[in-house]
Amino acid sequence: MKLFSKKSNSSVGLDIGSSFIKVVEIDHSKSEPLLKSYSITKLPPEAIVEGEIMDRSLVIEGIQDCMTKAGVTRKDVITAVSGRAVIVKKVVMDKMNPDDAKEAIFWEAEQHVPFDIDDVCLDFQVLKEDVGANQMEILLVAAKKEMVNTHADLIRDAGFNPIIIDVDSFAVQNAYEATSTASGERVTGLINIGSDVTNINIVQDNIPLFTRDLSVGSNAFIEAMQRDLGVSFEEAEAMVSGESELENSEKCRGIIDSAAAELSMGIERSLSFLKTAGDAEELDEVVLSGGGARIPWLKENLGEKHGIEFRINESLSSIEHDDILMGDSQELERMSPLFSVSLGLALRRGGA
Ligand SMILES: Nc1ncnc2c1ncn2[C@@H]1O[C@H](COP(=O)(O)OP(=O)(O)OP(=O)(O)O)[C@@H](O)[C@H]1O
Ligand SMILES: [Mg+2]
Repeated sequence: MKLFSKKSNSSVGLDIGSSFIKVVEIDHSKSEPLLKSYSITKLPPEAIVEGEIMDRSLVIEGIQDCMTKAGVTRKDVITAVSGRAVIVKKVVMDKMNPDDAKEAIFWEAEQHVPFDIDDVCLDFQVLKEDVGANQMEILLVAAKKEMVNTHADLIRDAGFNPIIIDVDSFAVQNAYEATSTASGERVTGLINIGSDVTNINIVQDNIPLFTRDLSVGSNAFIEAMQRDLGVSFEEAEAMVSGESELENSEKCRGIIDSAAAELSMGIERSLSFLKTAGDAEELDEVVLSGGGARIPWLKENLGEKHGIEFRINESLSSIEHDDILMGDSQELERMSPLFSVSLGLALRRGGA
């Protein structure tokens, strides 16, 4: 029971990535979610390195700048973490009611999580109520407390109040489901290519079948371009993000193709995991998001290698929005994949 609740009809999703901070505000007062605003702020490369916050004050300034640009006035935000300090696992355990499961989950987690159980935040979701032998299947999520606390403190120090801390992969799934018309039976690979981390989440019927983070992202492509073409990081970044013309396109395509090998292997491994677990034989489609989604030829390269359709997530541009307020619709479409996490978070309607 809520004795007091501050009624609010909008929610703010805040995605702190290692290259960009992204903010999305969604108005929930109509029958369909309405995009109120979105904004992106580039972080200096030394602010967050490989997921580690190196310079708090740079990140705090970035959060404040992004919020101001988006015109956000409310303090409550929904945010997410990802990377090596987050473990997502499917676990089969004895059937029990949710309250008992909350207790029992600690014992389960001890067997499945490679960290000290006192050092993690735990959550779970029942995936299948009955898998026979009086057992149920749950999705166990464990995140290192230290990382979750650091993340929350940072947001508080920027003057905001984190009310929900989610996981990047699930936020991407939420954004996808909110805007997808695909039938439930399809096995969809949601691949969010950030700058240092790629979140893979394979879903069917709104249920995650397999979730894993790979330690590779668009930086690997930028570094390969930088090295093989002898250009600066900034020049290579502009090429990889499609902002500048590619002069020697044959050569560039070769560089991108070989840099894609690690990512491709990660996808292959995830698929064989699914097959071994008997959850799915193959993927029906893959939806790319994150800043890496638009790396030239990547979609084509991966599509050919895996023999499936790869498309780009355009959830942000398909959410209802005011055209005048949003300005250039092509720009909205171009930036859309970068906002999958922040959009998925804002769609959670946390601020009741
Ligand atoms: N329009 C664009 N403007 C700027 N960067 C872009 C654009 N399109 C793609 N990029 C690329 O996107 C990358 C950042 O993607 P994204 O914002 O998803 O990463 P992140 O969330 O900051 O990183 P991570 O999730 O790994 O911590 C940059 O490395 C850049 O190369
Ligand atoms: Mg990211």
